[in-house]
This record gives sequence, structure tokens and C-alpha cells, in this order.
Amino acid sequence: MIVAHTLSDFRKARLGLDRAGRRRVVFVATMGALHAGHRELIRSARSRGDAVVVSIFVNPLQFGPNEDYARYPRPLEDDLAVCEEEGVDLVLVPTVSDLYPAGRQVSVVAGTIGSVLEGSSRPGHFDGVLTVVLKLFNLVRPQVSLFGQKDAQQLACVQRMVLDLNLDVEVVGAPTVREPDGLALSSRNVFLTPAERSLATSLSTALEKAAVADTVVAARAAANEVLDRVQFEPAFELDYAAMVHPASFTEIPDDHVGPALMLVAARVGTTRLIDNAYLDFPAPPHEHGEAFA
Ligand code: PAJ
Repeated sequence: MIVAHTLSDFRKARLGLDRAGRRRVVFVATMGALHAGHRELIRSARSRGDAVVVSIFVNPLQFGPNEDYARYPRPLEDDLAVCEEEGVDLVLVPTVSDLYPAGRQVSVVAGTIGSVLEGSSRPGHFDGVLTVVLKLFNLVRPQVSLFGQKDAQQLACVQRMVLDLNLDVEVVGAPTVREPDGLALSSRNVFLTPAERSLATSLSTALEKAAVADTVVAARAAANEVLDRVQFEPAFELDYAAMVHPASFTEIPDDHVGPALMLVAARVGTTRLIDNAYLDFPAPPHEHGEAFA
């Protein structure tokens, strides 16, 4: 495994893959603090190509001024050990000044899909994500890149960027990896106290209850029943619980039939957590005699 700490070292190593005839390069972008969710992405990447490239970079551009950029965990030695164990070929660990030299001006704007939900709570977040992802795509030149459905809006923004900017990369979504009690794995879970950790499971429980409902109204009610139970906990503050069209992220009406995405976000203690689930609402059965009315 080659670890490149500078862009010039990375470019050399990336050319080495070309020269070795390893054409199908699969890329996983991360901010490090790697957990079993990242491992799954890397394993899936290995099964899809000839070489796996991982980036580890806590991207300052996607953090707001009052967010957790400074305290975001950075266990680089452990992360490199995970990459080695998972058979990664090349790791890019750039510095902030290498990736964002002084004087840069051009960036990506995520548009409407990046302005709702996470984009509304974290203004500029998806512009920062797409700018770094585009830069990484240009450096890594992958044929395929894997992103977790855990960050469903991020996945949708990246897919939209690939479409709108005609990028030559296939973006694949990978299922969310969870703890046995349902909590979605996140690098931020390490900040939760045991009491907050147990409050945090109300997010995944609300989604599980919504997923078995037959209608939008029933799904909202099932999720709210769980979330109402923690609404007076000072350590739990719900930001949103929303149901949208999976591709456009526009709100769905109460009589919606077909696929939908439910997304939740909350502050638990000092930690912001997000989760989501794909739902599918069946067409209502016809009333007797209605079909030919
Ligand atoms: P990070 O939070 O480190 O996540 C890296 C990738 O792992 C993302 O595609 C994310 O969706 C995926 N992931 C995180 N938790 C997961 C889980 N429990 N199950 C499955 N996949 C999971 O997302 C980012 O970094 C950054 O925004 C980045 C894309 C690297 C740009 O800076």
C-alpha cells in the first residue's frame, strides 16, 4: 500500500496504476476516523475494480464556523492500519494547504438539491462537499466511486454533479452499516456519552417504525410517536424529520405512492447526527366496485 502525503507523490503513484494496466480504479473518499461503514465501502470497492484508492481528508470547506472541524477525530495511524487490512492500494492524505492553496477562487455550487434539509441547517455544506469531491475526482481519476447511503443527500448531490458537469465516473451508493441496536455508524458517535448514545437510537427506531407503514400519513405518525418520547430531553433536539422524493429531494404529498426517502437529523448532546431510510408506499387497494365506476 502506498500512502501519499503530497499531491505530487500521489500523481506519481496514480500514474503507476495506469502503467501497471490497472484500468478500473475504484475510489472511496473519507474524512478518516474509519469505522465498519467505511470498511464496507472499501470492501465493495475491492470487488468492483483492479485498484482501490482511499482519501483521508477532513475538509474545512464543508464545516460551518460553529461546527466541529477542530475536534473532528483524526486517528491517522489507526486509519492507515484499516486501509492496509482492507487491501487498499493507494491512500491520499493531503494537507489543507496542498489542496487549498492561498488565492483559490473557483468552487462548485450544489444548487437546489443542496439547499434543503442538511443544506438549510448547514449553509454552504454541500458546496464544500462537492468542491472537494470534484477536486479528488480530478486527482484520482476513478472509473467508479462509492458513497454511503447514510449521507443520502450527499450521495444525491454527488450524483447530480456527475450529471450536470458530465463527469466520467460511475457513482454507486452503498447501504448504511448500523450497530446491533440500529444506530447508524458515524465517526461522530465517539462523542456520545452512554446516556446520549441511548437517546440517539430514537432516530433509527423512528425510521424503522416509519418503514413498515403503508401510507405517508401513517409513516409520519409512527416516526413522530417515537420522536415525541424524547422531545423533552434537554440532550435531544430534533432538527428535522422529512419525507422527500429520493432523487429531487422535494417534499412528497400525503397521498404519495411509490418510493420515498425519510431523513432525520438531531443534536444529541453536542453532537449532530443524521440518518435516513428508503420507504415504499404501495398503491391503495381499489374499493369494491370502484374499478369501472
Ligand atoms: P465521511 O463522513 O468520512 O464518510 C465517508 C463515506 O463513508 C461517505 O460516503 C459516507 O456516506 C460513508 N459512510 C459513513 N458512515 C457510514 C455508514 N454507517 N454506513 C455506510 N457508509 C457510511 O462523507 C464524508 O466523509 C465527506 O463528506 C466526504 C465525502 C469525504 C467529502 O469530504
